Amino acid sequence: MNLYRVALLYILLVNWQVKSGEAMAGIKDVLYVRFKVTDLQAQKQFLNDFGFQTQIEDDLLMARGTDSSPYIYLAEASDTPAFVSVGFEAESEDALRDIAAIDGVPVETNALPGGGLIARLIDPNGFAVEVVTQIDHSPELPVAGRSGLNDGSTKQRLGQRVALDASACLIKRLGHVVLMVEDFPETFDWYQQRLGLLISDEIVMDQDGQEQTLGAFTRCNRGATFVDHHTLFFIHAGQADFNHAAFEVANWDVLMQSHYTLKKAGHQHSFGVGKHILGSQTFDYWKDPNGFMLEHFTDGDLFNESFGSHKRSPEELLGTLWGPEGMPGQ
Ligand SMILES: [Fe+2]
Repeated sequence: MNLYRVALLYILLVNWQVKSGEAMAGIKDVLYVRFKVTDLQAQKQFLNDFGFQTQIEDDLLMARGTDSSPYIYLAEASDTPAFVSVGFEAESEDALRDIAAIDGVPVETNALPGGGLIARLIDPNGFAVEVVTQIDHSPELPVAGRSGLNDGSTKQRLGQRVALDASACLIKRLGHVVLMVEDFPETFDWYQQRLGLLISDEIVMDQDGQEQTLGAFTRCNRGATFVDHHTLFFIHAGQADFNHAAFEVANWDVLMQSHYTLKKAGHQHSFGVGKHILGSQTFDYWKDPNGFMLEHFTDGDLFNESFGSHKRSPEELLGTLWGPEGMPGQ
């Protein structure tokens, strides 16, 4: 009897662990951002200069990077520019259905190139959040490489001049999105329940002896797999607004090369070049033709679940390892 009960308990425990492991996985990563812009052709030109590969099909501007996602940026024309939605890729159809079931929304066929399934949610701030899965990924494009670096103590390039690939497409992928939110705790609870996000660094300050949260950098929970320090950064702002979307480029040379390409093309620079303390990204922020802020970054920190969650100060948020200090876009 005892043996039977022990065996039954073991089976239940293993099943529970597998199920909770699946539920925790939730999403793989952020996949795309979608906008309404006033001039599709002007936006296409900006995105080309920014390093995307773009096309317009059926009045929809689609942009991809060198990674395999068929799109990481979408825009349609409108008299009123707007941030439309942020899209995430679920780990599996089961994970997508679990997420959709929380709000009782349907899982539908995704009409965009690459197909797959999509569930459409609305967060507590009114932001449209889309979760997709089973998208047909395209072959990766050649990544802009360069020969090895010769730093002060480690020489990787011997007997060679520097070689930089002049790739047509410099962006790799969408790395993170930053949203101003009405209420951080309510917003984080919502995303945590549906997408399984973990807090990497919570920004706290002391106000009359009370700890106040100003926002938090959150990352995907993929167990032992290393992920970006942040996928979503929520700023507790008392009002909802899009802040910026950040796209990873191949390396430091590409980031600087692109900085001067954008400058030469007359686009509006916002903030940088610099290196964040929290996340360690080397950053460069630009404004698109409608004033939406888009970032290039490289050399960001990667963590897994063992990193845990930390509390950090506003000074660490606004400070930099080098470069200008403060918040981009000011
Ligand atoms: Fe950023």
